[in-house]
Amino acid sequence: MPGVFQLPVKEIADEARRVQDLGLQAILLFGIPAKKDEQASGAYSEDGVVQEALRAIKSKCPELVAITDVCLCEYMSHGHCGVTRIDGDHFHVLNDETVELLVETALSHAAAGADMVAPSDMMDGRIGAIREALDANSFDQVGILSYAAKFASSFYGPFREAAESPPRFGDRRSYQMDFANANEALREVALDIDEGADIVMIKPALPYIDILWRVRKRFGKPTAVYHVSGEYAMVKAAAKKGILDERAAVLEIMIALKRAGADIIVTYWARELANWTRE
Ligand code: PBG
Ligand code: ZN
Repeated sequence: MPGVFQLPVKEIADEARRVQDLGLQAILLFGIPAKKDEQASGAYSEDGVVQEALRAIKSKCPELVAITDVCLCEYMSHGHCGVTRIDGDHFHVLNDETVELLVETALSHAAAGADMVAPSDMMDGRIGAIREALDANSFDQVGILSYAAKFASSFYGPFREAAESPPRFGDRRSYQMDFANANEALREVALDIDEGADIVMIKPALPYIDILWRVRKRFGKPTAVYHVSGEYAMVKAAAKKGILDERAAVLEIMIALKRAGADIIVTYWARELANWTRE
């Protein structure tokens, strides 16, 4: 993605310092392991890339809020967000087996210094299971930012390229949400709040601004929105061709998201926005 890079662990602490100096308060970490396998073992290993990055960040910038993406797709050889079983020409994602590995992942992030964990997998029951496990292991101060309404979207394409995690077979429609169904989104958010989510997130952002508005109004919870890779890449591509003024377009989008009720915006423009809003 233009302007977005994979960083080695040895550079992450300096990047965290630069981000903090810009006035940003939180980062969301994604990991890309050296090796992928069928159990996503890189996701929950003590010396995994996110775990090492957390220790490096927390030793230099203890005050920067470190949130970690909790999912298995970057660590799975097949690129799905959960454990899969293939039956003939069908495949299933095994919900409960996946939740067990997500719990391990969240615990290992907490042990390495994460302030919040952000499950992005969309399995059923994972928020409750993670909350219970964190509490039982003296991580009751570690929060959960839930990807509560995550739609099966075509706007994740550039991220999957960048994170080397496109599914090798099938698609994610059995576990991500049908974008035609607003009621299901509200039900999913209600479930995650019941299970203990501290912040709920809607994803993607701009095409789902109606969902954002409804969730913020109905539940009154801290509400985040994830402006995703495809939304970012569209504006970048148009700006490069001289079709849009990047800064004006980005400020308009971000203000629209605030207007629709976002308390928190996850965006690849965070660094630039910190400068632009100051100016
Ligand atoms: C994986 C994950 C995805 C994104 C964040 N976490 C991709 C997916 O679900 O395929 C997308 C982020 C983006 O597009 O910017 N669980
Ligand atoms: Zn995933």
